[in-house]
Amino acid sequence: MRLTAIKSKVDAGEKIAMLTCYDATFAKLMERAGVDALLVGDSLGMVLQGEENTLNVSMHHMTYHTKSVAAGAPDTLIVADMPLGSYEHDHEAAYKNAIWLIKSGAHMVKLEGGGERVATARYLVERGVPVCAHLGFTPQSVNQLGGYKIQGKTTESAQTIIQDAMAMADAGVSLMVLEMVPASLAKHITETVSAPTIGIGAGVDCSGQVLVLQDLLGIYSGPASKAPEDFKTPRFVRNFLKESHSIQQAVASYVRAVKEETFPAAEHSY
Ligand code: KIV
Repeated sequence: MRLTAIKSKVDAGEKIAMLTCYDATFAKLMERAGVDALLVGDSLGMVLQGEENTLNVSMHHMTYHTKSVAAGAPDTLIVADMPLGSYEHDHEAAYKNAIWLIKSGAHMVKLEGGGERVATARYLVERGVPVCAHLGFTPQSVNQLGGYKIQGKTTESAQTIIQDAMAMADAGVSLMVLEMVPASLAKHITETVSAPTIGIGAGVDCSGQVLVLQDLLGIYSGPASKAPEDFKTPRFVRNFLKESHSIQQAVASYVRAVKEETFPAAEHSY
């Protein structure tokens, strides 16, 4: 499944089911379970490395995991995160790092933020690199945002996200992740911009959904340094394994719930 197939599904009104993936075994399983797109997210810093956040993930980590995922899912669209420090300082460095990810097996790269990042996205798109924007809560800015907080709650901040989304669409991005924003704001953006939106904590009206695999399986319990009982699962997470007999069935049930629009429900949204 490539980008054109994803776009045809969106045009036909079908929701896109995306999941994070970091290795070949899960990539193979997810491809067979009907996942439309795999995100090699820098969330691997948290779920694989046990860190508190995504800030220490490097290009070497990202290319290593992208290669593994590409090996396991040769027929699925693979989006790879550009880690912190790999794209912000100059456009040429962003381009070189994006090409490194593409050569490792990604079909698209994802970068966080609006504002000045719009020019970076445009630079990559003009050179033939498909880009996924990431707006709303952007984990690489966790320190500036003061923690894991919902974004776009005030009229002013919602307006900024809408303008960034429009500018990113104008720059030619192919997809747009919207993280932890009010469902009404995500709905408005989805109806306004040309690029399909993929929500996480952004309500059911996005063009598709993404979840971190370990969250879907209910096995993520916070950073390695903290006791699992001190970890509070985010509101937008649903444990699909609890109601399934196998991981494959849990993933397939996530895909079905996204397509049937039963996930996310109101209780998973803001
Ligand atoms: O890194 C990641 O997994 C992500 C998703 C949470 C969207 O960016």
